[in-house]
This record gives sequence, C-alpha cells and structure tokens, in this order.
Amino acid sequence: MSLPVIQDSSATQEDPLDLMDEIDALKQERDVTILAHFYVDGEIQDIADFTGDSLKLARDATRVTTSGILFAGVHFMGESTKIMNPEKRVLIPDLQAGCSLAESCPPDQLAAFQQQLRDQGRDFHTVAYINTSAAVKSLVDWIVTSGNAREIIDRVPADKEILFVPDQHLGRYLMEVTGRKMILWPGSCMVHEVFSIQDLIRMKKRNPDSIVMAHPECPQNILELTDVIGGTEKMRQYVLQTEQPTTFLVATEGSMIHPLEKAAPQHTYIPVPGIMASSGETCACNRCPHMSLNTLQKVRDCLRNNGPEIEWKDYFATAREVLDRSLLQ
Ligand code: 13P
Ligand code: SF4
Repeated sequence: MSLPVIQDSSATQEDPLDLMDEIDALKQERDVTILAHFYVDGEIQDIADFTGDSLKLARDATRVTTSGILFAGVHFMGESTKIMNPEKRVLIPDLQAGCSLAESCPPDQLAAFQQQLRDQGRDFHTVAYINTSAAVKSLVDWIVTSGNAREIIDRVPADKEILFVPDQHLGRYLMEVTGRKMILWPGSCMVHEVFSIQDLIRMKKRNPDSIVMAHPECPQNILELTDVIGGTEKMRQYVLQTEQPTTFLVATEGSMIHPLEKAAPQHTYIPVPGIMASSGETCACNRCPHMSLNTLQKVRDCLRNNGPEIEWKDYFATAREVLDRSLLQ
C-alpha cells in the first residue's frame, strides 16, 4: 500500500515578520526598489518603497535610483516599467499574474480590426488603457490610466475618431464625461464586472448617509448609483479630504481598503460584494486572482533568485514612445 503524499507546507508557515526582515535585507543587497499597486495584499504594500495607482507608479519608476525594480502587481505593469526603464532589471514575483482586460485584446486581433477600419476609410486614433500588453501598446497612439484618461482624450484631435481598447465600461464612461464618440473594444475586468447591484442597493438602504465610491471599470448600472467615480488614487484623495467620519461603500478590488484605512482611519469602509455568474450567489470575488498571486514569499524568492525578470523585446521601443508621450509629457 502506498502512503499518501504529504505536501511540504513549510512555505505557508513562514512568519510574515521574518519574511519582511529578509526582504528588507535582500533589497539592499540586490540594489532593488519595490513598487506595489494598491490591489496587492496590504502586507506587501507595507514593505514597498512606493505604492500607488497605475499612473503614479509608472512615474515613480522613472525616478528610481537603484539598478533594479521589483514590481508587485501584474504582468503588464512590469512590462510598462521595463519599457520606460530599459537599463534597469525589472523583477516581478509571478509571471503568471495576468489581467483579464489585457487578455481580452490580443495584438493580432487589434491589428486586424484597425486594418478593417482603415480599409473602410475611417480616420482614427487608437487609445489604449494601460491594462494592455506591450505588443498592443506598440500598435496604438495613446495610453491612458484611470488617473489621466480625460486629459489624454482631450489631446486627440477633434477631427479624428477614437478607437478605445480594451475596457468597454471605462470607454463608455469616458464617452459620457468627454462628449467624444468612441468605437469600443468589448473587454472588461473580471473583478469590476461582477459587483452585485442588489447588494449595493441593500447596503445603501442600510447606510443612508454613506458615500458610494466605484472604479470606472465598473458597468454602467453600478456607476449610476455611485457618488464618487474614480481610479484608486482619486478614491484615496477623496477620503483624505473628507474630515467628518463617513461610511464609504467601495466598489473596487478588495485590497484597496488597506490604503484607504491607512490614509483616513476615521472612516468606515465597506467593500461591495461580487456576485457569481454561475449561481447568482454573493461571493468574495472582489479580490483579483492575478494580483493575489503576489505573496511575501514570492517577493522574497524573487529577490533571492534575481527573477523572474521582464526581458526586453524589440517592439518595446515603439511602445516606449507612446508611453512617454502619454504618461510623462
Ligand atoms: P488604477 O489603480 O490606475 O485605478 O488601476 C486599476 C486597475 O485595475 C489596475 O489593474
Ligand atoms: Fe486586470 Fe481587473 Fe485584475 Fe486590474 S483588477 S489586474 S483590471 S483583472
């Protein structure tokens, strides 16, 4: 009779405080700066040198003085960091940390659709959300984040049509706020797509004085019930500027509660739950499965092993011009 194989669980038993100390020492030894998006676990945000939204982190990365950067986030963020800092070693804790939005827009499909529009004689600029692969970034005219989208759309000449990829919900919201008509790619974020409208209505009834904050990646039915629509940094700024203790109902990735509580602990933050498409049941699906692949152990291992690392590809050079023009100028 063969005995069952017992998995080695030592990795999960490591003390977070020991891991944090080890990360601190390795960071100095390897000459690495750690950047962490607001959607990774709070304990990773706490050991990072810089935290923020996509726009702030992209800009922070260009000011780093160490020879290496470890980006705790998802793959497209690591790619953008490498594109804008080609001379630096860019490490990411898990190469499998993708993004449903980036995956919804493969570069070959985008190139074919752009050609189709050109063949029809359409005169357009392609505007891509930063949540796209580097290959897609090399095919577009502008890159936007939730923090600069309005400003960039205003820079697209008025006589051009706009093809907006890949987030249909952000695109629809931007059409509303900028008054520009857009051709929308049918992509969406798997986390922001599933917030439960019924639960949000119930939560509002139970908390009549609350303020609803939602990311513009949410569908229109959620945004219609929202008081503050904005990316993660805008949410943080809003709670910072609100002095009176307030209850906020938060429709974005669950880890965002951590920087909100740190910035303005006088408030109460209630995450809006998601809903499972298959059963209709409420779930804790407001955690992004890709962002959750970042763990303290993987950050430590990545520093120890000097990898995984984002490798430079030829098309990064074209993407660099677009990113620099859109995020730095
Ligand atoms: P921001 O932090 O820029 O709002 O981005 C949200 C997001 O979905 C990142 O994946
Ligand atoms: Fe992509 Fe959504 Fe996860 Fe952000 S939260 S990385 S948009 S899947």
